Amino acid sequence: MAEPLTHTHSLARLLRRATQRLRPRRAGAARGGDPWWKHSVIYEIYLRSFQDSDGDGVGDLGGVVQRLDYLESLGVDAIWITPLYPSPQADFGYDISDYRAIDPQFGTLADFDRLILETAKRGIRVLLDMVLNHTSEQHPWFVEAARSRNSPHHGFYVWSDGRTDADGRRLPPNNWVSLFGGSAWEYVPAVDQFYYHKYYRQQPDLNWRNPEVERAMFGAMRFWLRRGVAGFRLDAITALFEDEQLRDEPALGGTNEHGDPNLRHIYTDNLPDTHRVIRRLRAMIDTYPGRRVLVGETYLPSTADLDAWYGGARHNELHLPMDTLVGLGSTLDAPTFRQRLMEAATEIHDSQPLLVFDNHDRPRSWDRYGDGVHDEQIARIIATLLLTSRAAVLLYQGEEIGQRTNPPKRVEDVRDPMGISGWPRLKGRDGERTPMQWDAGPQAGFSTSHHPWLPVAAGYERINVQSETADAGSMLNWHRHLIAMRRSYAALRSGLMVMLDPDNPSVLSYARVAEDGAAMVVALNMSATPQTLTVDLAAAGVACRHFATLLSSPPGITSVAAGGSVTLPPYAAWVAAVHTHDPNGADEPSGHG
Ligand code: NOJ
Repeated sequence: MAEPLTHTHSLARLLRRATQRLRPRRAGAARGGDPWWKHSVIYEIYLRSFQDSDGDGVGDLGGVVQRLDYLESLGVDAIWITPLYPSPQADFGYDISDYRAIDPQFGTLADFDRLILETAKRGIRVLLDMVLNHTSEQHPWFVEAARSRNSPHHGFYVWSDGRTDADGRRLPPNNWVSLFGGSAWEYVPAVDQFYYHKYYRQQPDLNWRNPEVERAMFGAMRFWLRRGVAGFRLDAITALFEDEQLRDEPALGGTNEHGDPNLRHIYTDNLPDTHRVIRRLRAMIDTYPGRRVLVGETYLPSTADLDAWYGGARHNELHLPMDTLVGLGSTLDAPTFRQRLMEAATEIHDSQPLLVFDNHDRPRSWDRYGDGVHDEQIARIIATLLLTSRAAVLLYQGEEIGQRTNPPKRVEDVRDPMGISGWPRLKGRDGERTPMQWDAGPQAGFSTSHHPWLPVAAGYERINVQSETADAGSMLNWHRHLIAMRRSYAALRSGLMVMLDPDNPSVLSYARVAEDGAAMVVALNMSATPQTLTVDLAAAGVACRHFATLLSSPPGITSVAAGGSVTLPPYAAWVAAVHTHDPNGADEPSGHG
């Protein structure tokens, strides 16, 4: 653990120095003028469930500081922390009541400053989650706005008088539905109006057509940028604007998981107006030193749609909208992945793709992709794809140890409101939010409380950081190796990605080729049958005498001579360095950089 902060230093001076030092310490993290985030591994910390340092059963900032040595040893470049601001926690922090403070259950601003300092010492940057689309209903702006139409902040939110039916009943103005179920409109008698909420009714949407909203929210972001954050993950960012005429959205037929009609969200999502705000936001963030970054929660149907969020050829919007694999479903299918990765190379104007499989809103990839028989091998394939593609990476806490989804068994245990209203059809998102599993002790080392806010998942005695650190073949060590290789091999970190054997229906294989011609090969057998592969690097323009295995699952996939073939067992993952010289000589693999 790092030294505790002593008062012999001025905290302000240390912080200044730490934030100026927002550049990686370790070799290999950013070379050739690339910004630090371009090839980064960003680790998502779901704050409530990462580490509890004060025994109240909820994770906090002190807990994050306690675990920084682990994150440093894992090799991550940055952490994204889910909302830490004061909040009634109706949506577990995504309902913010004060954008310039820390919720007392997570700590204080002094704890936050200490976190910035301690992360900077370890070459780790901090990204905050910024919720621009909505506030909490308990934010002073909304409390005031809901009291009177004449209140100064009434225009901060999206209001409508609605309609009145033949019996004089007040009805919402249109058919818009909340993503979390039910009408997206809530009636407030005091103002005799409805307000719009895309998410829970405790999360009223801000009115981004009001320039005062932009001023206030940019001000909040500046507050954190000055305190040393390296950027933001922008929550629900495609939802900032709604149709001014409040037109009904077209029905697609059928109902969604909440039982509401399926609608085509042409008037509530991805409106062109949003891009003007994003360009101003990008210009603002670019005025800060240290190459701060904007990651966006931009779930869009295709890679081409994503391009606009980078700013197309102008590259003047988000640095890393997520994500290249969006909407793929959960089928492990080599042609589909190949197609998406190729689109990422050709359809986003040379912007950097961002890959993400797991987060706090969807069941873990272990359970989504697993077939119940080869789950562990499949998880290794996912990790290899994630960490050896040409992309920045988002890794979700617990993904690296193979943590499983643990949905509640009884309705009385559910914490996520949508799981309560949707039970038993919908169990909510608790399953992917259970505490991080640190060791085999009580509460998996997450908390000293006997009642953590969500229960620790079964199997933690085996699936935890401590046990897996000691096991050379563990999922955790698989991730550690991949991240370490990404840092030490230029080809893997920043090399071009060239698809090999492009018609193979079962094996996804590609070469990564560095500027100096050094190369690595990755082959992933996405089928339940063995596959034999002859790796032909001619398409990648790489001369090869020999492939030297660096990592394989299962172990024992041996090195092969160029032109020879390699047999990949079911769901195997193989990463090899390309040698251009005599393999029996003492030469290093050509990919080392
Ligand atoms: C996306 C966040 O990831 C999710 O947890 C939250 O409920 C919604 N946005 C609303 O803020």
